[in-house]
Amino acid sequence: MSVPFRSPLIHFGRGSLKNLRYIRGKKALIVTDKVIKELGILDKVTKQLNKSKHQMDVQVFDEIEPNPMDTTVLKGVEKARQFEPDWIIGLGGGSAMDAAKVIYALYERPDISMTDIIPLKALHLGQKSKLLTISTTSGTGAEVTWGAVITSAEKGIKLSIGSNDIVPDIAIVDSSLALSMPHSLTVATGMDALTHSIEGTVATIRNDFSHGLCLQATKMIFEWLPKVCENLEDKISREKMHNAACIAGLGFGNSQAGLAHGIGHALGALFHIPHGTAVGLMLPFIIEFNEPTSNDLFKEINKFCEFNGEGTPAKILATEVRNFMKIIGAPMSLKECNITQDKFEELLDRAVHVAYNDPSTRTNPREPTNEDILTLIKKSFAGQ
Ligand SMILES: [Fe+2]
Repeated sequence: MSVPFRSPLIHFGRGSLKNLRYIRGKKALIVTDKVIKELGILDKVTKQLNKSKHQMDVQVFDEIEPNPMDTTVLKGVEKARQFEPDWIIGLGGGSAMDAAKVIYALYERPDISMTDIIPLKALHLGQKSKLLTISTTSGTGAEVTWGAVITSAEKGIKLSIGSNDIVPDIAIVDSSLALSMPHSLTVATGMDALTHSIEGTVATIRNDFSHGLCLQATKMIFEWLPKVCENLEDKISREKMHNAACIAGLGFGNSQAGLAHGIGHALGALFHIPHGTAVGLMLPFIIEFNEPTSNDLFKEINKFCEFNGEGTPAKILATEVRNFMKIIGAPMSLKECNITQDKFEELLDRAVHVAYNDPSTRTNPREPTNEDILTLIKKSFAGQ
């Protein structure tokens, strides 16, 4: 069977932002959000582009919101059509980078819509511009992946967009841009990365190329995220964690996510909790749920990470994840996210329905029933 391995050219390491000076082109459109501007990161990026010998003309579209709306993305497309850039630069966390991917595709192809950006449909992009991503959080892996999550303003649902053609041409993974992340964001995005690497190891379409990346990312996250949380300004652990999140992105981007993402997407959308928090609090429960199908792979993770607890491989790994969550201060239940019993019960059936139909649920190694999902979501409320 023929399988593609998707990856941009990646410049990583502290100071790798300076590679922006060497890209060739005349005009760059930066797609970002207001926070990145306030933090001064946008200035750092434009400064490097201005140092380019090509003296690039730079414009900024800074209207991307968390969980970006299709209506916002279309405004960005309009800006691109007027400006006619030869580079589109997604700068920020997953939201800004995902929005940039879609703006790039629709700028290149005015004849298609967002729902045409699907796997197995060649889009022939790259005729007018190239796509570059710069990650400022250590978690989503969106700088290297082939997917984008955009919310439909009309239907209120998340559109799952994915195509090999929206894998960025270049990704810049410079940990100095992640230094300003506060503790809560560091933890949430870090849990997202750990969920990517563990789910990517066991997903139904895991493969030889994704496997080593997922194992390596898992080991690095267990080692380095607690060190980051101990001292948010520690440059070495920040760099390791920034790299680990990108490696996890390459790993799960070339494998797939699983049921922690399937349910996490539903919890995130309905209870308005951050993506990484939602998938993270599901992770230990999903490891336990996947025990019948994935114990050999959990055993391999445990061996690679040198986990030697009591019980089955799934139990040992789930216990390690729970201990890790306690150390870094990650919420372990919906209750801890201030979701009330009434609110939970009101949205429970809807959450089961949304989770069951999520694409990530389809690539989980153990196929869940609606009843299984209901049980798992109930467990996530109390954290047990
Ligand atoms: Fe994720």
